[in-house]
Amino acid sequence: MLKAVILIGGPQKGTRFRPLSFEVPKPLFPVAGVPMLQHHIEACAKVPNMKEILLVGFYQPNEELTRFICSAQQEFKILIRYLQEYAALGTGGGIYHFRDQILSGGPEAFFIMNADVCSEFPLPEMLNFQKEHGEPSSFVIMGTTANRKQSMNYGCIVENQQTNEVLHYVEKPSTFVSDIINCGIYLFTPEIFQHIGAVFQKNQQDMLLDEQTNGNGWHRAEAIRLEQDIFTALAGQGKLYVYKTPAFWSQIKSAGSAIYASRLYLNQYHKTHPERLATTEDGGPRISGTGVTIGAGVRVRESIILHGATLQDHSCVLNCIVGWDSTIGKWARVEGTPSDPNPNDPYAKIDSETLFRDGKLTPSITILGCNVTIPSEVIILNSIVLPHKDLNRSFKNQIIL
Ligand code: GDD
Ligand code: GTP
Repeated sequence: MLKAVILIGGPQKGTRFRPLSFEVPKPLFPVAGVPMLQHHIEACAKVPNMKEILLVGFYQPNEELTRFICSAQQEFKILIRYLQEYAALGTGGGIYHFRDQILSGGPEAFFIMNADVCSEFPLPEMLNFQKEHGEPSSFVIMGTTANRKQSMNYGCIVENQQTNEVLHYVEKPSTFVSDIINCGIYLFTPEIFQHIGAVFQKNQQDMLLDEQTNGNGWHRAEAIRLEQDIFTALAGQGKLYVYKTPAFWSQIKSAGSAIYASRLYLNQYHKTHPERLATTEDGGPRISGTGVTIGAGVRVRESIILHGATLQDHSCVLNCIVGWDSTIGKWARVEGTPSDPNPNDPYAKIDSETLFRDGKLTPSITILGCNVTIPSEVIILNSIVLPHKDLNRSFKNQIIL
């Protein structure tokens, strides 16, 4: 029997998603028409013998999350539960804290996935790979190739090219280590908890020696990072292997990368979900989805239009996220600058840009928070508009508070 754990993090993260993360936790932000997490869940539910999906994070249980879990359980006919950490315990600490829940029922292996990635999720391939490599209880990291410069923003893996064993692992190195990067998708056996447990015990001893610590010592011992604390130590021990996927993969850190990820998934829909794509019929394509009003002569490209939005006649929306219940007036033009990976480099990844560079707002996609009104015949360019704003003129390169 198999299980899967999705690391959904918590509210202090997701700053690069503002102001959209005010409304909905980042893992539930829609990508290609469904919550980001649903793509993970769908892939897990397809794996034979998958019994349960656990979401581990430090969000307060909230209505959106509960509603999402409920409807996903029904749609994919699989058990899904949310396990809340009492504090941010890191990527290894969270799963260690809930090890009894993960191991209950006796799974022989389980997947761990970062919530903020998009992927074709080649989970059956990872299972096959695990069978073929190393001893039966080896651990598998999914890897992909990046270019030299961008690789340093990720976990970097040096492998034995014959056996695919991970020889070295360095998290976000400051100089080049390897162009194989960690995709944040793992296949573990229960034995992983012995390795995390050893780090936990060592942390506890260090705490006792450290006279300074009183109060939250337990929390400090329990905070464990899979990457720096576990993988780095496991590398070269004949335990850790890398499965390099040829399939698409990207991080989703910023709102701009959500548009890029949507494009990757929409492309995949031709194969997996043609019914989710608009079909061209007599008189033009029929727009699918509900709750959005699109007027005549509107042009939308490389954008995400959220529920309840209205695009009035002849408006033009390019490289933009239009927030829930926002309205764009007639002939208005709302445009952003895409941050797509270099199309001439097959290994390029999307840069999750910071908001400011050299004290200036970096040109980015335009984001309208929820319930924003853009009047007719204005131009909004490379701007971020906070929720509930009624704009009365054109804006360029601004954060509108
Ligand atoms: N439950 C829980 N608790 N989840 C967490 C915590 C925590 O304390 N901290 C982070 N996460 C979740 C995040 O929500 C995210 O899905 C994932 O763990 C990784 O987040 P980060 O810790 O921010 O790491 P990163 O995204 O910068 O880098 C990781 O992912 C890259 C691939 O996208 C690393 O694993 C890199 O090595 C990897 O290349
Ligand atoms: P692609 O980018 O590949 O689509 O080609 P292109 O370079 O021609 O794109 P461009 O953005 O120049 O315009 C494509 C079409 O979008 C034009 O035929 C216009 O009808 C429409 N379009 C462009 N700007 C606007 C606008 O401000 N408002 C509206 N309603 N339509 C626009």
